[in-house]
Amino acid sequence: MTRPISPAPAIRDERPDEQAAIHDLTQRAFAPMPFAAGDEQDLIHALRNAGVLSLSLVATSEEKLVGHVAFSPATTEDGRPGWYALGPVSVEPGLQKSGIGSALINAGIQRLGAAGAYGFILTGNPAYYTRFGFRPRPDLCPPQDPAEYFMVLALGDEAPSSRFAFHSLFHAG
Ligand SMILES: CC(C)(COP(=O)(O)OP(=O)(O)OC[C@H]1O[C@@H](n2cnc3c(N)ncnc32)[C@H](O)[C@@H]1OP(=O)(O)O)[C@@H](O)C(=O)NCCC(=O)NCCS
Repeated sequence: MTRPISPAPAIRDERPDEQAAIHDLTQRAFAPMPFAAGDEQDLIHALRNAGVLSLSLVATSEEKLVGHVAFSPATTEDGRPGWYALGPVSVEPGLQKSGIGSALINAGIQRLGAAGAYGFILTGNPAYYTRFGFRPRPDLCPPQDPAEYFMVLALGDEAPSSRFAFHSLFHAG
């Protein structure tokens, strides 16, 4: 069961002086996960360096970094712009299941949606991401990704009909 922390964490854009803390938090959050590639923290760094970290939000509690989510541009085979990949997303291990991940994800979807995004893609556990409106779309999964974990959230009526691609840096490791 989710137990909210008090005070509720603040959600805002990352600051340049938080890059090392985001790296460390991501490494610590993913380390125990059996599905982790082990380079999630480096992916964020690479996206930032390449200028394709579309949105990088942090959650802070009493000035301490407690969560982070990254968004980057996604493309479709038929060349439609306006789609974003969600992730990596990380919450401080001792503070997981207290609503921080949800707050970050909802804030990012809301920010990019208000800016005109058509929708979002990710690979992740459907048991978690369906609560944000993501739906499994194995038919639209990039060939090199696990189709059973590929999910899409379309914000508008325009249903995607061609396969998606994550930024090439997702597969550079
Ligand atoms: C996944 C993660 C970002 C979720 O953030 P969080 O703040 O812990 O989650 P929230 O508090 O918003 O939501 C809690 C709910 O999500 C569920 N949940 C959390 N992580 C989950 C996961 N990996 N798979 C399925 N369900 C998950 C919890 O069981 C809880 O369910 P409930 O509301 O039915 O009780 C966080 O657990 C984390 O950093 N995990 C390690 C890194 C990781 O796995 N990142 C995502 C890779 S796809």
